[in-house]
Amino acid sequence: MAKVKTTFFCQNCGAQSTKWVGKCPSCGEWNTMVEEVISKSKSDKAPFSKNTSNRVSKPQRITDVEQKELQRISLKDQELNRVFGGGLVPGSIVLFGGEPGIGKSTLVLQVALQEQDKTVLYVSGEESEEQISMRADRLGLKNENCFVLTETSLTNIFSQIEAVQPNFLVVDSIQTMHSDYLESSPGSISQIKECTAQFLKFAKQTGIPVILIGHITKEGSLAGPKVLEHMVDTVLLFEGDRNHTYRLIRSIKNRFGSTNELGIYEMQGKGLREIDNPSEILISENQENLSGIAIGAMLEGIRPLLVETQALVSTAAYGTPQRSATGFDLRRLNMLLAVLEKRCGFRLGAKDVFINIAGGVKVSDPAIDLALVTAIMSSNANIPVTGKIAFAGELSLSGEVRPVNRIDQRISEAEKLGFNKILISKACKEINQRDYQIEVVKVAKIEDSIRAVFG
Ligand code: TYD
Ligand code: MG
Repeated sequence: MAKVKTTFFCQNCGAQSTKWVGKCPSCGEWNTMVEEVISKSKSDKAPFSKNTSNRVSKPQRITDVEQKELQRISLKDQELNRVFGGGLVPGSIVLFGGEPGIGKSTLVLQVALQEQDKTVLYVSGEESEEQISMRADRLGLKNENCFVLTETSLTNIFSQIEAVQPNFLVVDSIQTMHSDYLESSPGSISQIKECTAQFLKFAKQTGIPVILIGHITKEGSLAGPKVLEHMVDTVLLFEGDRNHTYRLIRSIKNRFGSTNELGIYEMQGKGLREIDNPSEILISENQENLSGIAIGAMLEGIRPLLVETQALVSTAAYGTPQRSATGFDLRRLNMLLAVLEKRCGFRLGAKDVFINIAGGVKVSDPAIDLALVTAIMSSNANIPVTGKIAFAGELSLSGEVRPVNRIDQRISEAEKLGFNKILISKACKEINQRDYQIEVVKVAKIEDSIRAVFG
């Protein structure tokens, strides 16, 4: 094997040591020593480096730099295109993270199979070719230009890439890959770092985009060092509740686009379906005559989303009243209940209050307050909210309805979905009824809102 020199570096202070030690002798931190390659022998070039020129960079004026139009690879998957900022950028390296079983492999395979006119190499260190082919059958997609390779050694992978010459490369998952230069086992920090560095070099030198799948630790961060997120161009997180079918792709870093975009999918028996109008599926059809339901206009990233908030208020059967919230912060619920009690005189202290946001959505947008309070009132009085009304407003401790950001987008979304009325804060001065078909009702206080809805 090639002659390679490795040394252990402290990830905290950068101290070096030729041997692994548990505690850094320099800064005293535990378990921070990580093996890294410091030099490879000259003859031992990575196989892909053959066809690259040895370009020497020279400083040039920033105004003289030629800006080439980013030639993006437009994918069939519109949600992914949007999250990437208009398509996959050649030579970019994407880290796609998510919890086990959320559907990372499914989505990436689906994308690979959809790209009929491109050669895709899907490298898997987790599943056999047979398993992948069975999944492809399940997805009901066929693509002769999609190659699968079950391999974990970088050297072998790069030599196969030479043979296949793919247009893009998928690696499932970076934690299973290993470089022969290092002795540590796959999944260790030094292996993950070294392998990512190799794929990064490969992507930059050949212009072939690479998608790396990565696992997530229990704490919710990408397994491996933080430095991994610094190395790659784009970090996407695939999220969702395993008990629900909705999945979100959130971009937490993107060198070629905004991180505000969001991709929404539904997991079905035949793979992931793109959802271009998420509000429609989050609102049940016949909620007209049920009490305890109100529709809130929230934002997910920068996408407006109408969600159904549900409340159930009942007399506490046992001594202590229960408060429970699914998809919403319990402390905020308690605060809203206190505001209702104090400002509007509703006696909810002896009642059980249960809150649910439909579809397994988790809401942190305070704009949902107004809808939630309305749902609680509706359930308490057992009067349904009739007439297709949406709500967008934050509630302050004084019972005042406060304005929320991007209110125009929320109003347009409600209008698009056929709502007749939307309640917003009186402080939204810039909003003019003339610009909208939907009736825009401005309220200053929570009492006004309740009066406007229930009369
Ligand atoms: P998978 O892609 O293996 O997850 P990850 O790679 O993130 O660990 O997804 C597995 C789950 O998706 C599994 O529980 C079954 C479900 N699934 C469907 O519901 N429909 C499908 O068509 C496929 C392929 C998987
Ligand atoms: Mg997988």
